[in-house]
Amino acid sequence: MKIGIIGAGAIGETAARLLSRAGHAVAISNSRGPASLASVVAEIGPGAQALTAEEAAAFGEVVLLAVPWRRPEALPAPERVAGKIVIDAMNPYDDNLQVIDLGESSSSEETAKRLPGARLVKAFNTLRAETLRNGGQLGADDRLVLFLAGDDAEAKSVVARLIDEIGFVPVDTGSLREGGRLQQPGGPLYGREMQAEEAQAALAGLKPA
Ligand SMILES: NC(=O)c1ccc[n+]([C@@H]2O[C@H](COP(=O)([O-])OP(=O)(O)OC[C@H]3O[C@@H](n4cnc5c(N)ncnc54)[C@H](OP(=O)(O)O)[C@@H]3O)[C@@H](O)[C@H]2O)c1
Repeated sequence: MKIGIIGAGAIGETAARLLSRAGHAVAISNSRGPASLASVVAEIGPGAQALTAEEAAAFGEVVLLAVPWRRPEALPAPERVAGKIVIDAMNPYDDNLQVIDLGESSSSEETAKRLPGARLVKAFNTLRAETLRNGGQLGADDRLVLFLAGDDAEAKSVVARLIDEIGFVPVDTGSLREGGRLQQPGGPLYGREMQAEEAQAALAGLKPA
């Protein structure tokens, strides 16, 4: 698939490496422009290119958001991603790395409001970038779980396949609202490095029977 990545920091670059290694065409972007990413794309290989953020959003059949959530100006124009599968890896931290209080809402629900028409899936947000980078190397029996949440079943199945292809076990936590809350900072699944059985048991214990 063609995957556009907005943000080429710890998460964006790591995801680009994993997805490229799995055979996908990736375009990464940042705030400083494609030239600043020349050495990174050269290192990732011929399946990778650097574009502007808007170009990367246009390029991707799937678009991964890996910029600070507190910088909504970093998001692509809504019309650029309308109808596309958009993966929200962002967590709502402020400049002092404190979690932003969103009251009854959550960061991915706010992202969905900012990008109407996008087929939003919350994923890649619960593990540290380093764990993501190293986890992709684990053998089949040791694979770690990557959680995903969203309201579009088909979009979730595409993201689940990508997660599997990069060497993790996809585990669906439910809707963007309910599952997303389990995955967010302070939620019971946030930051947890788990294998499939443990994750399913944890999830079963969290959901009403
Ligand atoms: N790091 C982790 O372990 C981790 C784990 C899970 C989820 N997350 C979430 O993933 C997101 C990214 O985190 P990170 O650690 O990868 O951050 P990071 O290393 O600071 O990288 C942020 C990226 O966003 C880009 N960016 C900032 N403003 C932009 C704009 N206006 N337009 C285009 N690109 C812009 C930056 O580009 P420049 O460098 O050119 O400014 C940089 O490439 C955050 O929401 C974070 O909460 C992080």
